[in-house]
Amino acid sequence: MLERPLAARPAPAIRFVDLQAQRARLAGRIDAAIQRVLGHGNFVLGPEVAELEQKLAGWCGVPHVVTCANGTDALNLALRARDIGQGDAVIVPAFTFVAAAEAVVLAGATPVFADVRESDFTLDPASLEAAIAEARRQGLRPAAAVAVDLFGQPADYPALEPIARRHNLYLVADAAQSFGASLNDRPVGGWGDVTCTSFFPSKPLGCYGDGGALMTTDSAVAGLYRSLRMHGQGEDRYDHHRIGVNSRLDSLQAAVLLAKLEIFQDEIEKRQIVAERYGAMLGERVTLPHIRPGARSVWAQYTIRVRNRDTVAQRLRERGVPTAIHYPRSLSAQPAYAAFPCVGIPVTERLAREVLSLPMHAYLDMEQQDEIVARLIEAVS
Ligand SMILES: Cc1ncc(COP(=O)(O)O)c(C=O)c1O
Repeated sequence: MLERPLAARPAPAIRFVDLQAQRARLAGRIDAAIQRVLGHGNFVLGPEVAELEQKLAGWCGVPHVVTCANGTDALNLALRARDIGQGDAVIVPAFTFVAAAEAVVLAGATPVFADVRESDFTLDPASLEAAIAEARRQGLRPAAAVAVDLFGQPADYPALEPIARRHNLYLVADAAQSFGASLNDRPVGGWGDVTCTSFFPSKPLGCYGDGGALMTTDSAVAGLYRSLRMHGQGEDRYDHHRIGVNSRLDSLQAAVLLAKLEIFQDEIEKRQIVAERYGAMLGERVTLPHIRPGARSVWAQYTIRVRNRDTVAQRLRERGVPTAIHYPRSLSAQPAYAAFPCVGIPVTERLAREVLSLPMHAYLDMEQQDEIVARLIEAVS
């Protein structure tokens, strides 16, 4: 009997973020780590959490890392620990994920929205100044600003920090998308007055559920975060010094993160290679992301700008290339946040119409990268 020729194997589907490929690489290690947690049964703030906090501190060169339940809580705890609340204004970029604004409102303060810079999508120092003035005009006390390291690149802290100091603002670094990145050879974690991050699964360093952390150089502040994340607990379990929350990290999530931390540097390098290949192949056909001199991104997103964005996204979808829009609306245009003060945000409004994020992860092979670029060039032509 004649053998039928083997059909050509279909190319694997392109994924926007490929957690399955990472899982295949780490399966043995993660499964063993999970088994260890199941064995000791210390499920919340267990030994893996302490080990993770120590390793993260070593990673980012900051003495204290306090984990919590998610990145939004990290932002909220940072503000609460500073007693930021009613009557206080916190400046938030209008072009970011909603969490920063949400954390401000949950703390009882008022978000004041500012614009981002056209070149790198991070908080615009001039707009920060305008938002501080606007807050005062509205009778609020400018108390803090949240600088977001959007898409993996640190915000321009050398420009933002002097403004924060001059106005006595507490500078919160939202590093939910940038843990592992650096600026002027200083890792993310050491910029601003406190750094908050997220371990949501699709983040560059993500767990298998929710998780977050705060980073600080101040041991007393770290102690306050530890108390706040645990019902405001004092020395003793049933001793409550302040109103806290329940925002602790599970040992299972810490175990997953410890396993992933072992390959994190390698993954960051692979993401960098993907970003460089995208840039080299796309050239000037679209507006490429811009990384400032001295900054190293972890490429949480590879976000380009195109004029006819929705048509391009639709064409790519039809050709099997998934994309995402981060973010299609300014925070100030969200119904829940429309009533809060906002300065002029022309850049945010333009970006919301033009940005398009391409698939980005450490497991995109060259063939897939070539396919994505070829389809994109076709779609914009
Ligand atoms: C910039 C930014 N800040 C904060 C968060 C909130 O993190 P989490 O989802 O862990 O609460 C996210 C997560 O999506 C984010 O992208």
